[in-house]
Amino acid sequence: MLSSSKLLFIILLSVFVFTLITASKGNFFENFDITWGGNQRAKILNGGQILTLSLDKASGSGFRSKHEYLYGRIEMQIKLVPGNSAGTVTTYYLSSEGPNHDEIDFEFLGNLSGDPYILHTNVYSQGKGNKEQQFYLWFDPTTAFHTYSIVWNSHCIIFMVDNIPIRVFNNMESIGVPFPRNQPMRIYSSLWNADDWATRGGLVKTDWTYAPFTASYRNFNANACIWSSSQSSCDSKSTDALQTNVWQDQTLDAPGRKRLRWVQKRYMIYNYCRDFKRFPQGLPPECNRSRFL
Ligand SMILES: *[C@@H]1O[C@H](CO)[C@@H](O)[C@H](O)[C@H]1NC(C)=O
Ligand SMILES: *[C@@H]1O[C@H](CO)[C@@H](O)[C@H](O)[C@H]1NC(C)=O
Repeated sequence: MLSSSKLLFIILLSVFVFTLITASKGNFFENFDITWGGNQRAKILNGGQILTLSLDKASGSGFRSKHEYLYGRIEMQIKLVPGNSAGTVTTYYLSSEGPNHDEIDFEFLGNLSGDPYILHTNVYSQGKGNKEQQFYLWFDPTTAFHTYSIVWNSHCIIFMVDNIPIRVFNNMESIGVPFPRNQPMRIYSSLWNADDWATRGGLVKTDWTYAPFTASYRNFNANACIWSSSQSSCDSKSTDALQTNVWQDQTLDAPGRKRLRWVQKRYMIYNYCRDFKRFPQGLPPECNRSRFL
């Protein structure tokens, strides 16, 4: 039988090892630069394990990754602004630079206490977006951290929430739909005031008596190809790269498609591919249902 002191030792050891593992990945000091709002609004805490953004009447705040990536699986845990967050928007996205940029977006539109956030998604290829899908979440995103991931490879882009796929954008270059595939992207995030459109289309304004509004980030992980000096870190054929790059061929398997349908049936509130009024000339070609699912 284990003595209680041995048991305590084992528990302490596991806590220690666990801390080491989490500490080795995704340190915010190592991976990100604060780019907006200054150090009093954007804070890196706990030796780099936590990052918080805040918004007050004078300014929002934001950060971006030091590295650029060209394909990868990018993950972040986020706890959104709690309470009355109406009018605020928390963004978390990948973007390249320049006029014909590519972008893969998560945006969280705040709401009054007890009313649901909207998760807004979009994809830009070569400067062109207009591919919005919006969702409610099946949990309150403000009471705990949840994981928001982007899988981006040459076949598709998969948006995931707590590992459940909520959206897939397939590579349909074969039918003339541009796909983000040759512009490296950085990870960006910001918290800002968008009360002219965010909550109930701009009807509900930010209540500044609740400021500062704060969102928190942790457990960033990029299993991704780092782009630097026109070279991809994935081109070096190290065993490391071979072992970790499961995401490179990831597409939706049958269970994934089933979960995607579950989310889309119950939680999707807007889909540009169903907005016939917006596209009276016909839906964009990638919306042809027979081409996916
Ligand atoms: C806020 O709550 C209202 C009422 O439930 C809802 O119609 C709306 O979609 C929610 N989200 C946003 C961002 O407006
Ligand atoms: C949709 O896809 C099917 C199968 O690829 C094709 O036959 C059909 O013409 C397409 N419809 C449109 C509107 O593009």
